[in-house]
Amino acid sequence: MLGKIGKPVTPADAVALLLECHGRIRFFLAMARRVGEATDESAETVSDASVQVHRYFTLALPLHARDEEESILPRLRGRDQLVDAQLDAMVREHQEHHQPLGRLVEACAALGADPGRHALLASSVLHAATELERHFLDHLAREEEVIFPAVRRLLDGATDASVVKEIRLRRST
Ligand SMILES: [Fe+2]
Ligand SMILES: [Fe+2]
Repeated sequence: MLGKIGKPVTPADAVALLLECHGRIRFFLAMARRVGEATDESAETVSDASVQVHRYFTLALPLHARDEEESILPRLRGRDQLVDAQLDAMVREHQEHHQPLGRLVEACAALGADPGRHALLASSVLHAATELERHFLDHLAREEEVIFPAVRRLLDGATDASVVKEIRLRRST
């Protein structure tokens, strides 16, 4: 692919793609919080935001967890004891996210279909969003401070390129 004139094309490495995902996780957690806290927003705004939050957390986030568990973990495992412990914690935390995520997407599905139920469902959205923000604060930090630096330190260029290919392939079908 051609880059803009005068700018070199720097292909994204695996960590760059994973960090973009983390940006989207933070963005949609903030959006979920805004849905829960909404007071003066129109029904259309509440509905649209709920649909977006639902779509992100049901379709995109599971792909990110698969990137980490299926493309990163098997290639890092067994190289560094500290990293291995953090990989175990990462997988455990992915499981722990399921319950609050389930509550969030259930409430957002209902609000997407009928934003008139906001008064009834706002506290569920807000509680789930708050719990998830707490979960992801530690989780994203663990990955960004230990696991992603290990990817750059321990995987060679060809291995990284394979990870990038798998990440892109998951989103192309
Ligand atoms: Fe993760
Ligand atoms: Fe992650």
